[in-house]
Amino acid sequence: MKKILVTGGMGYIGSHTVVQLYEAGYEPIIVDNLVNSKPEVLNRIEKITGKRPLFYELDVRDEAGMNKIFDENDIFAVIHFAGLKSVGESVQKPKLYFDNNIGSTEVLLKVMEKHGCKNIVFSSSATVYGNPERVPIYEEDKLGPTTNPYGETKLRIEYLLKDVAKKDKEWNIVLLRYFNPIGAHKSGLIGEDPQGIPNNLMPYITQVAVGKLKQLRVFGDDYDTPDGTGVRDYIHVDDLAHGHILSIKKIEEKPGLLIYNLGTGLGTSVLELVHAFEEANNIKINYQIVERRPGDIAACYANADKAYREMGFKCTRTIVDACRDSWNWQKKNPKGYDK
Ligand code: NAD
Ligand code: UFG
Repeated sequence: MKKILVTGGMGYIGSHTVVQLYEAGYEPIIVDNLVNSKPEVLNRIEKITGKRPLFYELDVRDEAGMNKIFDENDIFAVIHFAGLKSVGESVQKPKLYFDNNIGSTEVLLKVMEKHGCKNIVFSSSATVYGNPERVPIYEEDKLGPTTNPYGETKLRIEYLLKDVAKKDKEWNIVLLRYFNPIGAHKSGLIGEDPQGIPNNLMPYITQVAVGKLKQLRVFGDDYDTPDGTGVRDYIHVDDLAHGHILSIKKIEEKPGLLIYNLGTGLGTSVLELVHAFEEANNIKINYQIVERRPGDIAACYANADKAYREMGFKCTRTIVDACRDSWNWQKKNPKGYDK
């Protein structure tokens, strides 16, 4: 069984990917410093898969610790999820974001190279497109300027990885630009567990539904979109996770550098998502239209044809499935992973 090192594997997307790595016949190993996740995730992964991944509680910037992981395990490829992801926090603490996100990638690449492991899948983001020139967005569309330090770290890591691929043809690198992941594993055992008040739309909706928050604020209804509210490409986290399995399979063909959008190709407005959630779960969501959120763009959705053409990536779950699964997770875990 090929060993795949999953940095940030205790997090939202990472944990779903770990489950699917087992299902696809790989052996995931997790490294995570738990800065934004909980140890309970391991128990949940074990409940779903019957297997408990080897877990290193470590900061990816800890070079000696990372060397030890590679000394102890014959790693075929790395899926690099580890990173801080709050847009607002990145504006307040740009140095922390540059240091954590870029610094961890630099250490990781150094350690990988030293151990002759030159296969990596990287969690990039639609945020690298900045204010998109058109929707749907294609991979070859203009990158940047980014609109916040978090987005800038993703763009700079992409540049770094592209340069690495250019210099040394032995590297196989897949840059995955995620659109907006929502939903949870169908068991309701793992899901998104934001710390404090959520920034993102779906966890906010589920916390209103569970009574933890009073009212959803819909940020603006005067955008140039069909109903005036912001349009995004919401992808079920298990479809997104599957994109990583396909990327690892692709890497087995030694492809060099590949770049893919991972989205559904469909734009959904804030109010459409709210109404889909209400219908899927038969719950009313109390909401109010308020001012636009600074820095938000009107519409952002993918053209994901390239990922389909080249690796057979296809979303099989609908927005309604995602709304049902998000609610299933939230209602079974009203306090997230905290008991
Ligand atoms: P998450 O916060 O749930 O998971 C990230 C994990 O990385 C956490 O468990 C955290 O503890 C860990 N981590 C952070 N810095 C670390 C470090 N220096 N060393 C070791 N572990 C560290 O986030 P997620 O939603 O699962 O996102 C995973 C990746 O995908 C991130 O890189 C994120 O930027 C990217 N991404 C996420 C979204 C989204 O909307 N969720 C969209 C686009 C891209
Ligand atoms: N929204 C609300 N109310 C809320 C939260 C969000 O109306 O309480 C709206 C936003 O204005 C936007 C939409 O819901 O129109 C989605 O907002 P999110 O915060 O959930 O997601 P974003 O598209 O703003 O950003 C997310 C991630 C970024 C990532 C980007 C692209 O947070 O890190 O997707 O992948 F870069």
